Amino acid sequence: MSAAASRILGVGTYVPPRVWSNHDLSRLMDTSDEWIQQRTGIKQRHWVDLNEETGPSDLALKASLKALEAAKTKKEEIELIIFATLSPDAFFPGSGCFLQAKLGLTDVPALDIRQQCSGFIYGLSIADQFIKTGTYKKVLLVGAEVHSKVLDRTTRGRDVSVLFGDGAGAAVIGATDGSAKDGSRVISTHLYADGTHAKELWIKAPGTAYAGDSITHERVDEGDFFPKMNGKTVFVHACKKMSESLTRALEQQGLRPSDVDLYLFHQANARITEAVAKQLELPADKVFNTIDRFANTTAATIPIGMDEAIKAGRLKPGMLVACAVFGAGFTWATALIRW
Ligand code: ACO
Repeated sequence: MSAAASRILGVGTYVPPRVWSNHDLSRLMDTSDEWIQQRTGIKQRHWVDLNEETGPSDLALKASLKALEAAKTKKEEIELIIFATLSPDAFFPGSGCFLQAKLGLTDVPALDIRQQCSGFIYGLSIADQFIKTGTYKKVLLVGAEVHSKVLDRTTRGRDVSVLFGDGAGAAVIGATDGSAKDGSRVISTHLYADGTHAKELWIKAPGTAYAGDSITHERVDEGDFFPKMNGKTVFVHACKKMSESLTRALEQQGLRPSDVDLYLFHQANARITEAVAKQLELPADKVFNTIDRFANTTAATIPIGMDEAIKAGRLKPGMLVACAVFGAGFTWATALIRW
């Protein structure tokens, strides 16, 4: 039987303990705390220990166990795992399979999705559809990244490498018949993409679109295995698409921006978030930011924002939450949630 809606039953997060300040990065490359803070709002990020065998599925396991506890859900109740990441444990198989094994949930389907900074909201939309059709009652949705091991931590890669942090966020999504007094549910999700900009922010290798072998010494020397970004183009599109899509999502529900209690935007650059908030005339106290402490954790950003907002007493049951995200692909998405 199909459910009336899905709702977020609990969230959990995990970031590796090692903190890298902007000052720490200035010892690796030609950058400064002043440049990074002024251009991005980032003060620090968490990176895994490079000498450890830690992949996103390891961070995801810790976040998932916390999410299961918060959701008062036994892991055996999970019927589907959705894993969003751009920095997978391996080229294949997907990180969802590694997480599934670490959770000991043999036979539970594991689906990897690759929508970068939009991954968590894409995953929420997928979970919402599976729950509404009655296919599954409980879905574990995870966004997890280990960026640090694929960043060019030299001056050559400074425009990208200062922006990203490692971390994981998980949520247990469950069915609701709509009878809860606070109306808690995922109200809407909207997904978008524009692949004509795919190469404005990407990692070229390893890949199979090359003529000849994918992995060569020349390609390693050229830095093809590191992310490349046209920062200004990404910046402009992120501001425009997040504002437009959020406005459309609110209008579709007959809501005004002032009806929303808390905005959780993707955290790529504090200036992007400020521009979106300015365009929609949002009061600063309704926008919850984490970029100063975690930098851009890509697919983990939204659940980390949810968890941090709960811990800070800024996100409470019954609140109307609006999420807007933008990332490589380009992909972007919105979610309206009655918490
Ligand atoms: N430290 C010091 N100087 C730097 C650094 C650095 N880390 N990085 C670049 N610079 C230099 C540049 O070389 C340039 O020097 P030049 O003027 O001598 O040529 C100068 O700083 C200015 O560079 P700009 O690119 O003009 O800086 P800008 O103001 O555009 O800021 C930034 C760059 C922060 C990357 C910005 O463009 C941005 O945030 N873009 C969007 C990022 C984003 O949204 N990513 C989204 C999603 S990520 C995902 O989906 C995976």
